[in-house]
Amino acid sequence: MFIKHEKIEKNVGLMLVLTLIVVAIGGLVEIVPLYTIESTIEKVKGMRPYTPLELVGRNIYIREGCYTCHSQQIRPFRDEVERYGHYSIAAESMYDHPFQWGSKRTGPDLARVGGKYSNEWHAAHMVDPRSVVPESIMPGYAFMLNRPVRTDDIADHLRANQAVGVPYTAEMVENALADLQAQANPDADTEGLMKRYPKAVVGAFDGNPNNVTEMDALIAYLQMLGTLVDFKNYRTEDLRQ
Ligand code: HEC
Repeated sequence: MFIKHEKIEKNVGLMLVLTLIVVAIGGLVEIVPLYTIESTIEKVKGMRPYTPLELVGRNIYIREGCYTCHSQQIRPFRDEVERYGHYSIAAESMYDHPFQWGSKRTGPDLARVGGKYSNEWHAAHMVDPRSVVPESIMPGYAFMLNRPVRTDDIADHLRANQAVGVPYTAEMVENALADLQAQANPDADTEGLMKRYPKAVVGAFDGNPNNVTEMDALIAYLQMLGTLVDFKNYRTEDLRQ
């Protein structure tokens, strides 16, 4: 047996061919099973596509580079779970294009920041972080209060996400603009919005119900983060759909 092996070791061509065969078998064993399952992400109760306003807020979050200081992925370690809550599961970012996991944490992880503070707190914090957290080094984003969100292309944003697999329905696309405006106005009729997007948080996020600003969109997005899946009685079996 060792004599035969010596033959392989002394013949580069043979060694190359045999190596390729071994690597190919290893590759097939890893890749082929993936074709037999529908998705590598387990579906989980509660996850839904982002509301149009949340989606606009998410776009602003990416535009402003919030991810350069904030991650959205709680690692399954005790210190992280005690600080931020249940560790992140894959399904929670299944509608993120692109995902916002990140490893840079100049500021805290934001994966479960939804509901942690009031809308007023967020507005004050975004305008001037040091007004609520004196030692903060986060930059202020006061200009967002004066910038109305662009609404003419909102249906296209939903369609673009649809194209990469987010299950927006035709009804959601059709009502995109109405849903966007309803979510930022506490007096609006939100029945359709709530039916299409359960758990959507409605409010005059920036304190002014008369216009929809970038501040409204960003806070709507932040208030949703980590709230869609109910982890109170978390058992993997219960969450599966
Ligand atoms: C230069 C780094 C930096 C950037 C850029 C930045 N932040 Fe922060 N952020 C921080 C730091 C540091 C803190 C912790 C102190 C504080 O609360 O202000 C923080 C805190 C926060 C908190 C409170 C989190 C908590 O659990 O208390 C939120 C929400 C937040 N940032 C949102 C944002 C958003 C949205 C953006 C983009 C528009 C952004 N940040 C951009 C550094 C940053």
